[in-house]
Amino acid sequence: MERTFLMVKPDGVQRGLVGRIISRFEDKGLKLIAGKLVQITEEQAKRHYAEHEGKPFFESLVRFITSGPVFAMVWQGDDVITLSRMVIGKTQVTEALPGTIRGDFAAHTPFNLIHGSDSLESAEREIANFFEPHEILNYSRSIDPWI
Ligand code: PPS
Repeated sequence: MERTFLMVKPDGVQRGLVGRIISRFEDKGLKLIAGKLVQITEEQAKRHYAEHEGKPFFESLVRFITSGPVFAMVWQGDDVITLSRMVIGKTQVTEALPGTIRGDFAAHTPFNLIHGSDSLESAEREIANFFEPHEILNYSRSIDPWI
C-alpha cells in the first residue's frame, strides 16, 4: 500500500490547526499510520529539503521549518501521494483553490501550513528522516471496505 509523509509546519502548529488539518485527510478516507510532534534539527531540515539546496529560498525555508514544533505524519492508501496533494492544494497560496487546506487557511506562501511528499522516492526518504520503522503501525479499520 502506498505511503506518504505529511508534516504540519510551524505556522500550522502555532495557529492551532493540527486537528483541523488531520480531519481533512481523515475525511478523504486516508489512513494515519504514524504521527508525532517534533522540533526538527537544522541537519534534519536540510536533509528533508535537500533537493532545494542552492535555491534562493533554501536558507529561509530551513529557518522557518526549524522555528517551532512540527507535526510529522505517515499516511497510507491507494494513490495517497496524489490524493493528499489534492487535499493540500497548490504551493503558491495565490493559486491554491478554496476547498484545499492552503486555499482555505493560508495567505502567504512560505506560511503554507503543510508539506506533502511529491513522489514515491521522496516519501520513502522523508519517512526515514523522521520515523523509526517501529513507530509506523499496521492496523485495520472497520470502514476500510467502504472506502
Ligand atoms: S520549486 O523551486 O518549484 O521546486 O519549489 P516549490 O516546489 O515551489 O517549493 C518547494 C518548497 O519551498 C517552499 N517555498 C518557499 N519557502 C520560503 N520562501 C519562499 N519564497 C518559498 N517558495 C517556496 C514551498 O512552500 C515548498 O515547501 P514544501 O514544504 O515542499 O511544501
